[in-house]
Amino acid sequence: MVHEVATIPGDGIGPEVIDAVQPVFDDVSERFEFDLELVRYDWGSERYLESGSMMPDDGLDELAGYDAIVLGAIGHPDVPDHVTLNNLLLPIRKGFDQAICKRPAILFDGVESPLEGYDGGDIDFVVYRENTEGEYADMGGQEHPGHGHEVAIQSAVFTRTGTERIVRAAFEAATEREGRVTSITKSNAQAHSMVFWDQIVEDVSAEYPDVTVERLLVDAASMDFIRRPEAFDVVVASNLFGDILTDIGAIITGSMGLAPSANINVSGEYPSMFEPVHGSAPDIVGDGVANPLATILSAAMLFDHLDETEAGDAVWSAVTDQLADSDAPRTPDLGGSATTAQVVADLRTRL
Ligand code: NAI
Ligand code: MG
Repeated sequence: MVHEVATIPGDGIGPEVIDAVQPVFDDVSERFEFDLELVRYDWGSERYLESGSMMPDDGLDELAGYDAIVLGAIGHPDVPDHVTLNNLLLPIRKGFDQAICKRPAILFDGVESPLEGYDGGDIDFVVYRENTEGEYADMGGQEHPGHGHEVAIQSAVFTRTGTERIVRAAFEAATEREGRVTSITKSNAQAHSMVFWDQIVEDVSAEYPDVTVERLLVDAASMDFIRRPEAFDVVVASNLFGDILTDIGAIITGSMGLAPSANINVSGEYPSMFEPVHGSAPDIVGDGVANPLATILSAAMLFDHLDETEAGDAVWSAVTDQLADSDAPRTPDLGGSATTAQVVADLRTRL
């Protein structure tokens, strides 16, 4: 079996973590006897600074032929963040209809949570984030620039199709897990979009009588992610709320450097994309200490997606093994002093 995968290392620590995954890809494809053809695209902010665009005009056409995409991170101190995001990352998620963003938050054995009293296994939930519309819809504009009555309008977009499919994906996931869905909204203040969301949760839940549903407002949910993270099983949220909550999910389970994600195109018509939750981390770029495990766990999710589940399981358990071993190297975000390369070298011995 041949899998063709495009890699987009991107900016900042993106190339560091993508380079780190490369040998893991080689090991796993050799051991499980499949061919992985990786093609690298050096698109991102350096390209923008040189040529004025983050990717070529036909970039999506180029990517469309791959089985999947692995992305490092996007974001550069010399380029405004809305330019980088809206000209590379969001066009891929939207253009390839990657409607389901799946982000596990797991406190692994051997990893310290900043929350007191939590040990490995105590936190284990997954966030289903709507990934193509909501608050990140490109709807709006600015008027009267430079005048006193200058105005900016940014509208959120919630379609029944988009909302229903993320909610349904969350319920489906709950049937495979502990049977609990928590839906996050702000329907007290946003009486149109979020009340609509609540109604769709209600409709879909009728089809899943064995799944219990909890509803939380996003402010209370932010608190409860810290106060009682053990209580969550499957969390479903809009694009913005899911984005914010998954940073909390990452840090309560030890580090931004451990949180993986999958952006899934459900129909399979377009490639899905696998990327760490974290950004380009300009504060540590070039130091060689970026934690590669978020990207490596994203690669494990990629293998599952490609139906190479043995490979996915092997990568996932090599990472859990390493984290549980107090003698294993770990990067500074996890309290260690190891480099990215040392973590990868150790991981390879466990594969
Ligand atoms: P960030 O996630 O890049 O960094 C937040 C903190 O986590 C920093 O202290 C950083 O050092 C640490 N961190 C992140 N990844 C790490 C890793 N693998 N190992 C060790 N420590 C790690 O978020 P920030 O600082 O808000 O954004 C930086 C840039 O990244 C901005 O330009 C932003 O727009 C962009 N960004 C891009 C994302 C993407 O490409 N998907 C997601 C989030 C932010
Ligand atoms: Mg984010």
